[in-house]
Amino acid sequence: MNKKLLIYQIACLALSATVVFLAWKLSDATESTNTDQPSNSTVTEESASQESFVIENSVQDSIALNKPTENQNPSLYVALQNRKTVRSFSDQLLSDQQISNLLWSACGVNREDGKLTSPTARNAQEIEAYLFTPKAIYYYQKESHSLKLYKEGDFRAKAGNQAFFATAPVAIALVGNFLKMENFDEEGKQFYSATDVGYVSQDIYLYCAADGLATVACGNIDRPAILEVLELKDAKPLLSHPIGFEQ
Ligand SMILES: Cc1cc2nc3c(=O)[nH]c(=O)nc-3n(C[C@H](O)[C@H](O)[C@H](O)COP(=O)(O)O)c2cc1C
Repeated sequence: MNKKLLIYQIACLALSATVVFLAWKLSDATESTNTDQPSNSTVTEESASQESFVIENSVQDSIALNKPTENQNPSLYVALQNRKTVRSFSDQLLSDQQISNLLWSACGVNREDGKLTSPTARNAQEIEAYLFTPKAIYYYQKESHSLKLYKEGDFRAKAGNQAFFATAPVAIALVGNFLKMENFDEEGKQFYSATDVGYVSQDIYLYCAADGLATVACGNIDRPAILEVLELKDAKPLLSHPIGFEQ
């Protein structure tokens, strides 16, 4: 009788051990599945933090920019405290995520009605951003938050007159597109485009201050030369920003 009880107890113990072992294996498998195939939100967060430098290193017809980083620190107050002009740049590249954040901060769409991070008189949205990289010039398409190849080649030195334009990893030329200001008279086109570009420029300064980047707003630019490089008419280059890391 005692022997039977003993066998019964051993069988129970073996069964419990098997159940515990199977449960442990199952939770291990679930964990590794989670690591291999993260949920969508994890993918977004991970890809946002992974640094890639495709934009400055290649030439592509069009580039869909990453989603701009949400809830980026620091606070606006700290960014305002850190905002400053910097005129010397190391050769360190901006990540693709930084380029995305930068262009969106400058003049990206921030609402469903298509309005922008920077205000424009009568919502003309005439300030256009051209990104000069070591490989090409890209046009920033606000509506789709993407880059369109504009011209292949290194034209960074043409974006402004000062020597640092040739060495900063990227420059943004801000151009007033007068075709978008047909309901303004000539004085209005000049005045409001010059005013509107100030907001875009300040957004660039603040994003740079918030993300440890360096920049300077430059009005000392060769406007006819920029128009020629961009092959534009009915437009006015207003300000250029070289952007990189402070040397
Ligand atoms: C509209 C505008 C145009 C400017 N143009 C130039 C320029 O062509 N070259 C330059 O080195 N700095 C330029 N600056 C930068 C100013 O010199 C700089 O903002 C000023 O010295 C104050 O320094 P802070 O920006 O660090 O406060 C410009 C600034 C503004 C607002």
